[in-house]
Amino acid sequence: MVKGKAKRLRAVDLYSGVGGWALGLRLAGIEVIASYERWGLANETNFKNNQHQAQTVDIRRLSLTDLPPDIDIVVGSPPCTQFSFSNRGGNGDIDDGLEDIKIFLTIIDHLKPKYWAMENVPRVAKILEQELRPKGRLSKFRHLNIVPKVINMESFGLPQRRQRCIAGNFDFDLLNSYSARMPKRTLGDIVQALAADRVIDPIYGLALNKCDLRDHVTEDALSDEEIRINRASKILHPVYNSMSFPDQLGRSVRTITATCTRVSRESIVIEDQKQPGTFRRLTVRERACLQGFPITFQFYGDSYAQKLRMVGNAIPPAFSYYVAQAFQERPAKVVRPLTGHAELLKTPIPPALDARPDRPGARYPRNRTFRFAIPSLRLKSGVRFDLTNKISGEHVTWEVAFYFGTSKSIQTLTLDDSLHSRVLSRLPGNLRSQVRAELTHLIDFIRHADISNMQKVWSHNGPGLTRPFMLLDQLDENGLRIRNLLEEYDLLARTLVGQEILLGHGKKKALALPGLKKLDRNATQILSGLLVGSLANTEISKRARADTNKKLKLAAG
Ligand SMILES: C[S@@+](CC[C@H](N)C(=O)[O-])C[C@H]1O[C@@H](n2cnc3c(N)ncnc32)[C@H](O)[C@@H]1O
Repeated sequence: MVKGKAKRLRAVDLYSGVGGWALGLRLAGIEVIASYERWGLANETNFKNNQHQAQTVDIRRLSLTDLPPDIDIVVGSPPCTQFSFSNRGGNGDIDDGLEDIKIFLTIIDHLKPKYWAMENVPRVAKILEQELRPKGRLSKFRHLNIVPKVINMESFGLPQRRQRCIAGNFDFDLLNSYSARMPKRTLGDIVQALAADRVIDPIYGLALNKCDLRDHVTEDALSDEEIRINRASKILHPVYNSMSFPDQLGRSVRTITATCTRVSRESIVIEDQKQPGTFRRLTVRERACLQGFPITFQFYGDSYAQKLRMVGNAIPPAFSYYVAQAFQERPAKVVRPLTGHAELLKTPIPPALDARPDRPGARYPRNRTFRFAIPSLRLKSGVRFDLTNKISGEHVTWEVAFYFGTSKSIQTLTLDDSLHSRVLSRLPGNLRSQVRAELTHLIDFIRHADISNMQKVWSHNGPGLTRPFMLLDQLDENGLRIRNLLEEYDLLARTLVGQEILLGHGKKKALALPGLKKLDRNATQILSGLLVGSLANTEISKRARADTNKKLKLAAG
């Protein structure tokens, strides 16, 4: 027998996007025969970077007989939209999501590859376990002996804490053995490497001159309002855990997502090192590096949003490379590090055009919503006092709303004039005077505020003297001060809060409400919110009535 080169394994990639699987497999020496994906620009990106056939097809309509023969490996990432917690709070159409998983498994059954792997969001691990049970919706695939695992890609040298479900029939222990030798990388490693004149890829070791680096366009710094919204949604989110703002350079990043606006909770925001004190989101290139793409990889999207989607949707090739090593049963000691593949990672010609980042929102819809918690009056897990705008056609009203209970049973109380008078009248004389004196600041603020134009300012549709965050800050300050005044009156506060809940909900219903213990434990804070919120609502309504009367008088000449 003639000794020749070992035959390269042949693979197909399903739901292939820009080719995060294909790149990892190719670097590990596997031949990707074909990729299947319905998004043309993703296929162009995959084809130009990975030099293989990337077909634009709807996999749901693909015939099994169209698939190539003699396939050793099948990989793929069926869409995660229906399973993701960011889709309708986790209430996506699971049946529809399972449709693509069924197609993927049907193809495995048909091609009978030696090894296969499927990627999806972590939640799919549990769904697979359930649906593979005898009466589950995937029970007919039980014979495939599917093993779903949740893997944190940070363990494979990625500077990102990206958790994904990987299901497959390969040796997961072998895959995990590779992680022992991986360096820990941070967001700062990526930002600094890409800021140099001679850019050295922090994962692949490739070098490029700065002028040859694509999609590293820094956006305009975030405005004060955008910073404020970022801080509020990250640090003071009413329900979700607090996260840092700005993101820390000294550690790995949170999951890189497929969308990220200038003000979303998911956006990773850093202090701009070139202009300390200003903040910006990451560039497409920084995100791509954090996702384990080499600096030479080109994204042929038509817009910034498309490129963010291409990057955020992908399986990190710096991870799929190691799965491909496990497919080939290579022991850890013979696996080449990713720095050994420069010859396979030349920039495709022509390189992609830079996409211009989004500009700060010049205008928003006139009915732009505002809902932010008053920081000093906020307890964790959803108990809070929000400043919010209520919009009905052209008419906008502003109010403080109180929420308590649980995420499944959110409760509220109307904060109005009668609540205010009742609570105030039950405070002992000296405390009442102190509280009243403190509240005059709030009355003054609202009387002089330009409430009627606040929505115009908020939606960037016209001038006005008061931004809603100015009112929020005032409420925050009053909330804190009154809370301090009430500090020694815990028993009284518990009694008054309890009475208002009974009055607001009726005795029978009130006693069964969820979350009452939390209100009782934090009664001084809650009482402060009741006093501040009810007064604010009363004064805002008075202002609105006065403004309307003024307008009517002016109109009547
Ligand atoms: C999670 S992404 C896959 C990312 C890919 N592994 C990568 O590295 O870029 C899922 C992909 O499935 C594609 N897709 C969704 N439904 C499809 C269908 N019916 N036929 C073909 N592609 C589909 C989407 O366009 C998307 O690119």
